[in-house]
Amino acid sequence: MKHPCLFLVLICFSIIKAYSGVPADTLKERLISIPTAHSKLTLFRAADNRIYQLAYGRTDQEISIPANIAGREDEFLPPSGNGFIWEPAIQAFHADGNTSTDLVFVRQSVKAIDNNVSLTRIELKDSYYPFYVTICIKAYYNEDLIEQWAEISHKENGPVTLFRFASSSPVFHARNYWLSQFYGAYKKEFQMVEEKLTPGIKVLDSKLGVRAQQMRNPSFILSVNDSAREDSGDVYGGTLGWSGSFQLSFEMDNANRLRALCGINPFGSQYKLQPGKVFTTPSMYWTFSTEGKGQVSRNFHRWALKYGIRDGQKPRPVVVNNWEATGMKFDESTIVSLFDGAKQIGADLFLLDDGWFGNKYPRDTPKSGLGDWDANKVRLPQGLPYLAKEAQKRNVKFGIWLEPEMVNPLTELFENHPEWAIGEPHREPQLSRNQLVLDLTRPEAKEYVWNVIDKTFSQSSDISYTKWDCNRYVTQPGSTYLKPDEQSHLLIDYNFALYDIMGRMAKKYPNVMAMVCSGGGGRVDYGALKYFHSFWPSDNTDPVRRIYMQWGYSHFFPANTIASHVTNMGKRPLRFAINVAMSGALGVDMDIRKNTPEERNVLAAGIKLYKENLREIVQQGDLYRLESPYEGPRASLDYVAVDKSKAVLFIYQLKAGSPVVLKPRGLDPLRKYRIKEVNLPENESSKLAIDGKVLDGATLMRDGLIPTSKNEFDSMVIEFSTTN
Ligand code: DGJ
Repeated sequence: MKHPCLFLVLICFSIIKAYSGVPADTLKERLISIPTAHSKLTLFRAADNRIYQLAYGRTDQEISIPANIAGREDEFLPPSGNGFIWEPAIQAFHADGNTSTDLVFVRQSVKAIDNNVSLTRIELKDSYYPFYVTICIKAYYNEDLIEQWAEISHKENGPVTLFRFASSSPVFHARNYWLSQFYGAYKKEFQMVEEKLTPGIKVLDSKLGVRAQQMRNPSFILSVNDSAREDSGDVYGGTLGWSGSFQLSFEMDNANRLRALCGINPFGSQYKLQPGKVFTTPSMYWTFSTEGKGQVSRNFHRWALKYGIRDGQKPRPVVVNNWEATGMKFDESTIVSLFDGAKQIGADLFLLDDGWFGNKYPRDTPKSGLGDWDANKVRLPQGLPYLAKEAQKRNVKFGIWLEPEMVNPLTELFENHPEWAIGEPHREPQLSRNQLVLDLTRPEAKEYVWNVIDKTFSQSSDISYTKWDCNRYVTQPGSTYLKPDEQSHLLIDYNFALYDIMGRMAKKYPNVMAMVCSGGGGRVDYGALKYFHSFWPSDNTDPVRRIYMQWGYSHFFPANTIASHVTNMGKRPLRFAINVAMSGALGVDMDIRKNTPEERNVLAAGIKLYKENLREIVQQGDLYRLESPYEGPRASLDYVAVDKSKAVLFIYQLKAGSPVVLKPRGLDPLRKYRIKEVNLPENESSKLAIDGKVLDGATLMRDGLIPTSKNEFDSMVIEFSTTN
């Protein structure tokens, strides 16, 4: 469906624009309505000329236009002081020392970017000071998603200090609120927990500076009235596009109202904004559905594939990575022989991980070399171009690992530029994984980082993939470049500089696919993903743990972004590991030379099946989460092609259990599907009662099927293909 309401919105806005400033405005003309296909945000310019939120959510919700607004609680982007007594979205100390801000409406505009996307800009100004905030809202009509950010600027006589700069701060009115967060740690990323909110403030945050995630991801599910269900109920999803410290705070007041303040973490980050400069907050992405969190996820996925990630529609290659197989212990001939393994199992690409660089201080342990980005002449005497060519000869593409923002003290880089590292004076430098973070606010360091990328990729046009890692966070946020009174800018400006470099990479090397990684899944957010094709979810590749993680990630991120590699971790049955990895962007991290011929055959068969039959459905289709690993012995999910002509069902037995009916979802009720269990062991046929049968979608979804999996680590992959 195209954008039937956009025209109406445009008319509505032109009317409002025409009336702005005229005292006799009717109440209706003061409404600002931002619809998407199944949701609507309604704002209101009240008599006091402030912007209030009337509703966000259902399109059938009756909106009563208030004759007057009694209090400030529903102000849409509330500033601190001058009467606002809750957590503010914007807090500024003005050049003359005034600590309050009072934002009133100046003008608004709406622009149709195309027939699906509109941009609404609501310009506000302080009632006294030349201090301006523009609320920007992009609505993606068909995807039911709104993106919100703020632009803050001023023309005062000196810097204004910003203490709060939320991107978005909607209010909700419901009986009660259930919040699901996705928390974790290294090797335990993206675990899901839901709680009922109580009065007071619940804060989800990160203070890690250069990665959003470690203890939790900047994403959440907010269900109103009841706890979140997969396929029913009013549910919101929110995710912040920011790779630095974030704060998501949920304040429930004594009238049962909930305000969600979402943005950069203001902790230790007050920002002196110079006159004429614009502070643009990162984007906050919201979606809403009356059909549960399953639809919320599908909205995020549809949006991400089209707008949120690089080349959303391009198939992700089946990658063989050497990290778990070799660590840093390899030389040229080892790597070349691993290409043979990659070719044997039918992979698309070989990704050479950490350990390939450093000469004065070779990178043969994590203690040295990080920062000196020349191929090690002893281990790789013919350099990267030779490796890329050798891979190419075998019809395997070649990718390379980088961690360009970091430095080991044991490097030539650090010997020459110790002042480029982030750290505090008079404090013992804190190393983490033996490394420090380069200060990207310093132009020379930033340029060096860009040159690392440029120099690496430009060596050979056969380098077509990269993994960008970031293995520590900031614990001593000091810069020798920033002035003493701008030290608190460091973590914010770091991330803007980082995006600048990532943007340059994407622009200059559009054909180099990129995976974002940060000691596992530390940097998984739509701020970074704009420049990447996929992410490394975790260094924990035990398929059992991955079932939980992939379940969590799938709430916000489409399957083609979730790199899922088959490894030996956990020592699970190989077929189980493959079937788990096939429900994401399949890859392998094994030394294929050490696999038995049988294992190689199983891998090759899985990869062939994935590439020929499943990749497109998994990577482009709609996801239906069927049975949660958190709730029973069996987890299951299906993906349905957008035109509903095909679907694939994955079933994983986490504990032994007796088979019970499983109902697929998302099929076309009227079309007939042939059912076929695939990826079976050689010479085994399916024991599924309906294998080979043709049933219509309605019957399949109503009656379901009885999986034959019953023992721990049994797994099944079942294809549905339409016959009409
Ligand atoms: C952390 C990543 O998560 C791993 O996959 C690997 O690339 C190592 N870093 C290399 O140092």
